[in-house]
Amino acid sequence: MLILKTAKELLDLRNSQKNKSIGFVPTMGALHQGHLELVKHSIVENDFTYVSIFVNPLQFNNKEDLEKYPRTIEKDIGLLESIDTDAVFIPEYAEVYNAGISYDTIDLSYLNSILEGPKRPGHFDGVVKVVSILFKLIQPDKAYFGLKDFQQVKVIEKLIKDKQYPIRLVPCPTVREVDGLAMSSRNVRLSPDARKKAAMIYQWLLKARDLYQQGCTVKEIEKIIIEDIQKHSDFQLDYFEIRDANDLSPIHNAQQPAVALIAVYLDGVRLIDNLML
Ligand code: PAJ
Repeated sequence: MLILKTAKELLDLRNSQKNKSIGFVPTMGALHQGHLELVKHSIVENDFTYVSIFVNPLQFNNKEDLEKYPRTIEKDIGLLESIDTDAVFIPEYAEVYNAGISYDTIDLSYLNSILEGPKRPGHFDGVVKVVSILFKLIQPDKAYFGLKDFQQVKVIEKLIKDKQYPIRLVPCPTVREVDGLAMSSRNVRLSPDARKKAAMIYQWLLKARDLYQQGCTVKEIEKIIIEDIQKHSDFQLDYFEIRDANDLSPIHNAQQPAVALIAVYLDGVRLIDNLML
């Protein structure tokens, strides 16, 4: 596996690969099976797969969250090597933001106004900035993102569409622990007790799906699940909402494809998850 640290190394390699199909998986490291599934998808579907590991300060609206973000670079390299990743790009800040490649911005007014948007001001703008630079450096044919971050997938979809990048977005299913908890780099910050309780999040999503399939309305389901969450004092609810799975608009009729999205604090750790209903 090639380990690339500078934008120049990356561009030199990339410019020698004109006839290869290129897959790209952007990450912030602290890799787990969820990340590795994206990488495996890319390896199967492309001649050459790049993974990036870069903890992007621009997308953290909370300084403490940035400082506490787990960094396990040696382990990450070992994991990527174990599944035969072709190359990993591990840049310092300046190699991304001062390498002479300008970032793109898009109108995120709607996506910034719902769910994660108001809760994490500036987050998606930071994601768009870093991903647009990484796209310009790596010039992938396909880019792999996890549906665990459902709203992020919608943001990247809009970025690719608005800027007409010749890139195919490949959304990949959420990988879960045995008890249903969505894998996340933040899970390691949970105490053993909180880690056990965290499985409730998936249970609430499953219950919402059951209620939806029984014919309950969106309003009824939201009320039932929110009341249930509020009974568990360890959890602080950020939001629980059911929305249109295509564009995250409010649901008006039962024909629309629906997704339930949740964000809670547990043990001071913010956890998000979602499920197609
Ligand atoms: P990060 O949180 O490291 O996630 C990298 C990719 O892995 C994202 O596409 C995310 O949705 C996916 N992922 C995380 N947990 C997953 C799981 N349990 N199942 C499936 N996929 C999962 O998302 C980011 O980094 C950053 O915002 C980034 C896109 C790299 C820009 O900085």
